[in-house]
Amino acid sequence: MKILIVGGGGREHALAWKLAQGRRQPTLFCAPGNGGTAAIATNLPIEAEDLDGLTAWATTHHPDLTIIGPEAPLCAGLTDRLQAAGLRVFGPTRDAAQMEGSKVFAKEVMRAAGVPTAEAHVFDNANAALADVRQRGAPIVIKAEGLAAGKGVFVCATLAEAEAAIREILLARAFGDAGRRVVIEDFLDGEEASILALIDGEHIVMLASAQDHKRVFDNDAGPNTGGMGAYSPAPVVTPALWPVIREQVFARTLAELKRRGITYKGVLYAGLMITSAGPKVLEFNCRFGDPETQVVLPRLRGDLLPALDACVDGCLDESLVAWSDEPCVCVVMASGGYPGPYAKGMPITGIADAARQDGVVVFHSGTRLEHEHLLTSGGRVLGVTARGATLPDTVQRAYRGTEKIHFEGAHFRTDIAARALKRKVLQGDKRVQADLAAKHG
Ligand code: AMP
Ligand code: GLY
Repeated sequence: MKILIVGGGGREHALAWKLAQGRRQPTLFCAPGNGGTAAIATNLPIEAEDLDGLTAWATTHHPDLTIIGPEAPLCAGLTDRLQAAGLRVFGPTRDAAQMEGSKVFAKEVMRAAGVPTAEAHVFDNANAALADVRQRGAPIVIKAEGLAAGKGVFVCATLAEAEAAIREILLARAFGDAGRRVVIEDFLDGEEASILALIDGEHIVMLASAQDHKRVFDNDAGPNTGGMGAYSPAPVVTPALWPVIREQVFARTLAELKRRGITYKGVLYAGLMITSAGPKVLEFNCRFGDPETQVVLPRLRGDLLPALDACVDGCLDESLVAWSDEPCVCVVMASGGYPGPYAKGMPITGIADAARQDGVVVFHSGTRLEHEHLLTSGGRVLGVTARGATLPDTVQRAYRGTEKIHFEGAHFRTDIAARALKRKVLQGDKRVQADLAAKHG
């Protein structure tokens, strides 16, 4: 059993880690992988965006399954290319991946399907866009239409900010062609959660909930990042919300795509705002989340591969996934300066010490091995991940892991999962109250 995983981040390391524990003991290849996947897979010197290189490797080596991690190759049609060569692929085709690749397309699908989401207008002309925000007022949210590595969204508190965002996207073309159009949408108030669903074209199996921490600094301050940490489950997704999300978000979306002749297979990731009026979709992604995957997969009981296989083969079933009650927390350690410019090539020490802690696993994101030395090679470097019996224990374990790890300039948030801890206090969890009281006096 040969599996190719496309990508080289923490998500791909977590996928490889989970698959490596599988009963069928697959032989794993990662393209390009990172310093962490090198220990459990063969890293291939092929970039995730190199569709020709990946297709050439796959048609020569015939993996039994290819799992595509990042959005760029999905939106560029890697699935279509490999399928055309007769290969089995986990990940949506190019037309289905438009759910992430074009925020305009996703909004049109949502509107037609009746999926709850923010009211939005689309413009390619700056003057018309400026007139729209002036009429609607702030707060308001401005989004570049296309892929912008999470940086094309501006949540604007004032009209001046909104006007600046429109100019940056449409006139300065800060995101190139991804900013040919803007989506201007109402600001939604609430708490965010990520729900990822496996979809085989027909059936929907939602994975455990998670919450990401997108801002770089504690208390959600500073600019957006790719994600500074995550935890699962996200208690904001109460049991009553699950059937609502299944029906109003996933089932309606799938039906509308089908009406348009598009079959969705793979992961559909819904970024949700849980508002006082119920869950509303902020965005769709066409892949596993990063770092959500790092906290969801450790909670999956048993094998991942049968569920992925079932997605590809169209026989997905709820019985293929079951979840541990134990929470999981991931703290991302980033390079100094990230999400701005940062240095690469810093030596990393202490990972083995961190991983020796009970319940701790360290997923690599931006690392590479050079002559047996582990060096930083990206903005997000490591995801120190822990499981434990309770959320406070789990948070503590993850942070104890970070204490062991060193690289020059390392920074991380110190409040991962704080929202869930606070919520537990509100719900009267005595242990958590005692813990917080001890910590904060
Ligand atoms: P997106 O990439 O569309 O999920 O947007 C990135 C982040 O911007 C989200 O995780 C939210 O924190 C925020 N955001 C996006 N759309 C809205 C909205 N309509 N109202 C409030 N915040 C939003
Ligand atoms: N965690 C956000 C993302 O994967 O897009």
